[in-house]
Amino acid sequence: MNLAIFASGNGSNFAALVKAVKEKKIKIKFVVLVSDQPEAFVVKRAQKARITVILVKREDFASRADFEAAIIQRLKNYKIDLIALAGFMRMLSPGFVKLYHKRIINIHPALLPAFKGAHAIRDALDAKVNFTGVTVHFVDNQMDHGPVILQKQIKIKRLDSLSSLEKRIHALEHELYPQAIKLFLDGKVKRLKG
Ligand code: GRF
Repeated sequence: MNLAIFASGNGSNFAALVKAVKEKKIKIKFVVLVSDQPEAFVVKRAQKARITVILVKREDFASRADFEAAIIQRLKNYKIDLIALAGFMRMLSPGFVKLYHKRIINIHPALLPAFKGAHAIRDALDAKVNFTGVTVHFVDNQMDHGPVILQKQIKIKRLDSLSSLEKRIHALEHELYPQAIKLFLDGKVKRLKG
């Protein structure tokens, strides 16, 4: 099984997945990072770990279709079985999602369908809900949407600040994403029609 991780930022989930592969917690033969942000810390993490990096900058292409075609072209060399989005800050087009049908997953720092979007942890805290959590789901054509693979909740404590809550959410993500990928690889997750 070959895994492509798409990430645009810090890359702590990327690092957690690479660690799980190295420790053989998930049976992946090959990992490649796809990033649209050459300066992102995730790229440095990948270089340090000697992971192949595919850098594709959106501004180098006239359209999203051309940008995605460049990614697809470069991924073809690696026979990718699963794409894991980990803080990739772009929506993939329906054409791209169709090409990798049932093989693109995403992690989101809230209990979807609650708190979609880029500020999910802050939004949950501001909403004063008692629980939030992490979701790993298949990607479809809507943002932060698609069949759920794994979800785990955590309690928001009365004295939680944004940073204390972020810390716990990220720790949970690093635990849950490898688990979800393992379920997928073990054939324990099946997407039915739709
Ligand atoms: C994570 O919170 C993930 O759930 C969201 O983007 C963030 C990426 O963090 N989709 P990192 O770059 O993996 O540290």
